[in-house]
Amino acid sequence: MKTRYIRSDADTPNEEGIRQAGGIIRAGGLVAFPTETVYGLGGDALNKESSRKIYEAKGRPSDNPLIVHICRFSDMEKLVERIPQAAYDLAEAFWPGPLTMILPKSDAVPYETTGGLDTVAVRFPSHPAARAFIEAAGGYVAAPSANRSGRPSPTTAKYVAEDMDGRIDMIIDGGEVGIGLESTIVDLTGEMPMILRPGYITQEMLQNVLGEIAADKTMLKEAAGARPKAPGMKYRHYAPKGVLTIVEGNRDAVTQKINELAAQASAAGEKVGVIATRETVDAYHADCVKNIGPRADEAAIAHNLYAVLREFDDEELTVLFSEAFDTAGMGQAIMNRLLKAAGHRVIRV
Ligand code: TXA
Ligand code: MG
Repeated sequence: MKTRYIRSDADTPNEEGIRQAGGIIRAGGLVAFPTETVYGLGGDALNKESSRKIYEAKGRPSDNPLIVHICRFSDMEKLVERIPQAAYDLAEAFWPGPLTMILPKSDAVPYETTGGLDTVAVRFPSHPAARAFIEAAGGYVAAPSANRSGRPSPTTAKYVAEDMDGRIDMIIDGGEVGIGLESTIVDLTGEMPMILRPGYITQEMLQNVLGEIAADKTMLKEAAGARPKAPGMKYRHYAPKGVLTIVEGNRDAVTQKINELAAQASAAGEKVGVIATRETVDAYHADCVKNIGPRADEAAIAHNLYAVLREFDDEELTVLFSEAFDTAGMGQAIMNRLLKAAGHRVIRV
């Protein structure tokens, strides 16, 4: 398959290109598109054949449900059995934006889209090109992140192309995404709302709207015997090709420990990469040292994380080390992704 490329910037949307992209979805094809979080790999959410194609293009197990993207709140009515008050409140506060809600699905949503579940994940993104595309596509676009299964989610069209060129019909290039980590997922099907995946919309922001909210206990630690509630979170997603270890502790002890481990690995013939912060980038000795941003700037760290992991893959590094980050606010999402990438390998010094 030959993949077509079009460009659509946030402020000057490519109307003709987006119209064609919508036509591809209506005809059962696949289009990758930018959102404010990461690039998505879209297909018609109400067409089970399209969902099958998405799994195939991603190389993803088909028990891993897809998020249905909409472009107006009222379109949620078609997807779910009933809209609870909490969904109105969350939509009022955070939609359009980087929040996904899980609700009992209606009969309109095929099980191929929900990975066999009776619930459906719904998201109303804020990115202008995403919204125009969803509208042109008929209003219901199922989209996982546009990476091959096991690779970091793509934050630029170039990364989408690396994984998807030749496998899908079109890629809409909207430049670099803003946030860089996937949406926050909140499950509204239980007695108490529960965060299944942390993201830009933090636990505190959700609490301010809903009052009490629970969080899946597998989010920041490997709980023995506990399965993550979002099926996709059980896979070792975001896995770099190199073996990643997180080193946690006070700054000088961490740089010292990482340098020590990096020297040992180099001596053993490994190619070593380090995720450093602006404050520490000059203190490391390794084949590749990346400054992920200033330690206090969570938004920058979130924005750069997946790009850094992909660059490490491109440089074929075999052993990786990262500093740990604060888990307050958006730090919860950053450490959730980093811990997964590290397969929960953490050294405390
Ligand atoms: O920011 C995002 O959410 C991006 C952009 C493209 O919108 N999408 C994204 O999709 O991250 P994906 O497929 O990579 O991750 C979806 C996650 C998976 O962990 C999946 O298991 C979970 O959402 N999920 C989807 N439907 C679910 C459901 N009904 N119940 C529980 N978890 C669900
Ligand atoms: Mg994903």
